[in-house]
Amino acid sequence: NLVVDFKDTGIKIQPTMYGVFFEDINFAADGGLYAEMIKNRSFEFTNPFMGWLQPNSNKHSFNLKSGIASAIKYVGNPSNRNYCRVKINSDKGYALINEGFRGMGIHKDAKYNFYIAALKRSGDIKKISIQFIDKEGVVLGETNIVPTSTDWKNYTAQLIASKTEEKAQLKITFEGTGEIDLDMISLFPVDTWKGRKKGLRKDLVQLLEDMDPGFLRFPGGCIVEGRTLARRYQWKKTVGPVIDREILVNRWNTEFAHKPAPDYYQSFGLGFFEYFQLSEDLGAEPLPILSCGIACQFNTGELVPMEELAPYVQDALDLIEFANGSINTPWGKVRNEMGHPEKFNLKYIGVGNEQWGPAYIERYKVFEKAIKAKYPEIIIVSGSGPFPDGDYFEYGMEELKKLNAEIIDEHYYRSPEWFRENANRYDSYNRNGPKIFAGEYAAHPKEVEDGPKENNWEAALSEAAFMTGLERNAEVVQLTSYAPLMAHIDAFQWAPDMIWFNNLQSYGTANYQVQKMYATNKGTDLLSITKDGKPLTGQENLYATAAKDADKKEVIIKLVNTSNNSQNVIVNLSDKRLNSKGTITILTSEKLVDENSFIAPNKISPKETEFELKGSRAEVNLQPNSFTILKYNV
Ligand code: AHR
Repeated sequence: NLVVDFKDTGIKIQPTMYGVFFEDINFAADGGLYAEMIKNRSFEFTNPFMGWLQPNSNKHSFNLKSGIASAIKYVGNPSNRNYCRVKINSDKGYALINEGFRGMGIHKDAKYNFYIAALKRSGDIKKISIQFIDKEGVVLGETNIVPTSTDWKNYTAQLIASKTEEKAQLKITFEGTGEIDLDMISLFPVDTWKGRKKGLRKDLVQLLEDMDPGFLRFPGGCIVEGRTLARRYQWKKTVGPVIDREILVNRWNTEFAHKPAPDYYQSFGLGFFEYFQLSEDLGAEPLPILSCGIACQFNTGELVPMEELAPYVQDALDLIEFANGSINTPWGKVRNEMGHPEKFNLKYIGVGNEQWGPAYIERYKVFEKAIKAKYPEIIIVSGSGPFPDGDYFEYGMEELKKLNAEIIDEHYYRSPEWFRENANRYDSYNRNGPKIFAGEYAAHPKEVEDGPKENNWEAALSEAAFMTGLERNAEVVQLTSYAPLMAHIDAFQWAPDMIWFNNLQSYGTANYQVQKMYATNKGTDLLSITKDGKPLTGQENLYATAAKDADKKEVIIKLVNTSNNSQNVIVNLSDKRLNSKGTITILTSEKLVDENSFIAPNKISPKETEFELKGSRAEVNLQPNSFTILKYNV
């Protein structure tokens, strides 16, 4: 028998307990959440025509009889360096084609807005037609613009797709002869999240909103650090007009992945303003993480000398001003000009992503001093390095404790067994020491032959078991997030991931369902649930945690059975004022290797039914390998 003790533990479950970790990895931003459909829209990639093709030419020759396209450098424009000059020699249908991010997903009857900046240089280019085409060149929707100006001018037009196609392309054909300059060629669905122009992909944000996340951590991950310091994430270059946001080669731009991505760049159309706005939309605390002057230690590990650290620290101070400062401050003004005079109410800031060792501690101290001097109310998240048990993990934890660090970010990607065996991980953590942000974790099953690691039910169930330990230790663990969040099925560098998408669809994995069940049933106050006076941390393959939601007046009991057999459990609810009915929500699957997929996105999804109490006892038959939530009004 399990006993739920209703005596107040006095331990609050923080509203931030279950959040999301967003990184632009696996095409999660460009090619994913950021709904831009044109790859390399402003010809800024290292190869300025990457992503652009010509019909009837080989991939890299842009010099045909009918015309030539060349990349031209702007004079003195460091952020938007190039534009495209097209010379049309004959009226024979010279065209450029954009291949999108592994194609463009278009939905039958949906509308798409096309944008282009153009400058007519000479001759008489009469019309530019814009068409969706499939791989056979069949037209699936078209529109056109008539360029008129000999100065740079923005044109827009709308296309309606005549058919649903996952891998459409956009063909831009010129009529007439002459020379024209083009830049910022852009295409977005009209139907974006909240209908914002040039906004975010609606289905992907919806999956996040459905989770009701307590915080949104951004922008990563290793992209915060960069492979080199020069290629670190610099938030100031990601705000203001999109055209002025300097593109960067993504740290995950690599040939060495299941799906190589040499064409992975960051356009920063999804920049810090948009991350703050998304946090606000989701009702999640924004949690930005900034470079601490150390490049990704899995790459160069390049260190900024201490005497050159000041601009990095200033970036942190200015970010707080951007988020919370009055509109009369320099950075508050930028926020205001972007349409958000209200403060974003930033409470947390992360210093460094996954850095470790004395070099980190030395730099962290400088950040801490400067941030606390100016903004004592801001809570600083520090890093413990990767993977508990790493060489510097203990060192980092000790040093940070000495410095009275407020919240330490731990990362672990481990086997499902590890997760099942470590549900007691935080039971021994000092209650008076720094709080914990379990900022990146995921159970990694063994790789299937020649394939990526999968989001199978065993991994998700093991995380559910482990997470009872996060919640039971809510006194210490205050923020948690699965990682990575999103992956494009044709362009991923890391698996497993929580949400998978292609150009048309998206689905939540079994791991997503576990996260969602926790996040939408978190409660406000921890209750104790024990068997023979002890917490359940895997004895007889059982795990448990209990909470009360003081606002909704609910009791929430989470039970995980990792046995291959069903188990009968009696929960003694010491509170006699219970109603006789509640709900039982069960997440399970027949086999541990089962997964959700594009074909069966809801194969593993929670089933909720009514449940009757017998007096103050709940008798539950826990299904084999299942995660169960019992909920009662009190
Ligand atoms: O989540 C993938 C990567 O894992 C992150 O970028 C990094 O922080 C960690 O090593």
